[in-house]
Order: sequence, then C-alpha cells, then structure tokens
Amino acid sequence: MSNKEVQGFTIFFTGLSGSGKSTTSELLEAKLERSLHRPVTVLDGDEVRTHLSAELGFSKEGRDTNIRRIGYVASLITKHGGIAICAPIAPYAETRREVRDMVEQYGGFVEVHMATSLEECERRDVKGLYAKARAGEIEHFTGISDPYEEPENPELRIETEGMTPEQSCEMVVATLQKLGFC
Ligand code: ADX
Repeated sequence: MSNKEVQGFTIFFTGLSGSGKSTTSELLEAKLERSLHRPVTVLDGDEVRTHLSAELGFSKEGRDTNIRRIGYVASLITKHGGIAICAPIAPYAETRREVRDMVEQYGGFVEVHMATSLEECERRDVKGLYAKARAGEIEHFTGISDPYEEPENPELRIETEGMTPEQSCEMVVATLQKLGFC
C-alpha cells in the first residue's frame, strides 16, 4: 500500500516499570482517535498480563512469550489497517526485533523508548513495587535484579524527566508526522 495514511502501524513503547508508557499511551490513543478518526487499540503491559498472559511469570522465557503474543496481536491489527499501541517493558532487544519483523511485514513499526532513569522510576514508585523489589519481596524485578537492554536505534527516545506526559505524547505525534503516518 503506497498511501501511508491508510496503512496500519504499530507504536511500540518500551521502558522500565513506571517510565510513563501507560500514561503516554492513553493520551496518544485519545489524540490519534480524535485527529485521525481511526480506531486505536492499546495493548498495555498490565492489561495484557491480566487478559492474555495471566499464566506467565517474569523469567526471560515468560517475558519473551508475553512480548511475542503482544507482537502477534499488533501484527494482526497492523495487517488489517489498524493502529496498535503496545506498552510493555519488553526488556530484551532481540525479542523487540522479532516483534518489529512481525509487524513490518504488514505496515509501520515505531519504537519509542521511554528513557526514564531507574532513579526516577524508583522515586515515583507508583505501584510500590520498587520498594518491594529492594526488600527482596519480588525477585527478578526489571532494573533492580533483572536486565533492561536499552534500545540502540528506536524511532524515538524520550528523556521524560522534566517533561509532562502531554509533551511526551506530542513528541510521538511529531515523530509519526515525520514518518508520514499522520
Ligand atoms: S515484560 O517484561 O513482560 O514486558 P510487562 O510489561 O508485561 O513486562 O509487565 C510489567 C509489569 O508487571 C510492571 O509494570 C509491574 O507492574 C509488574 N511486575 C510484576 N513483577 C515484575 C517483575 N519481576 N519485573 C517487572 N515488572 C513486574
């Protein structure tokens, strides 16, 4: 399809827990639905783990399976001309690459790294999970006792500190415009 305006695409947020993926996704969903008049599907990390990946844990294998499921659903949405927003931690570069390959068979893939530092995520600790991870009550917690591989070439990296979620959302929209998706 040559006209990108009717092509499906996926925006894939990645970043630590508490980095702002969910909040920015929600704002972006509303913004894109308003401006493009097209339905947008959000695959949020916590929601997917409730509805699609409830049996999976946080081992590398569990996370990879979770991310592949998200990628598969996003690829179907993209294939049918839809817009998907994914917002998992997705800590492993190779698995993100697999998802990119799955989606790019059918449409656009825009990787957005929410580059909020561990210190800031831990300071916010919205869900109280960093404190639990530090206390040893949660094992294999991303950033504390489990790895996060930073994206090397994302379409967009947002240094969120000092920025509002609205500003982060605007940065994504500007990137989508630059790439010709909206
Ligand atoms: S991913 O690694 O498989 O991409 P996902 O985004 O689905 O992670 O889930 C992350 C969310 O699960 C976190 O925001 C947090 O609320 C919760 N969580 C529970 N245990 C862990 C853990 N060990 N590491 C990271 N997040 C965890």
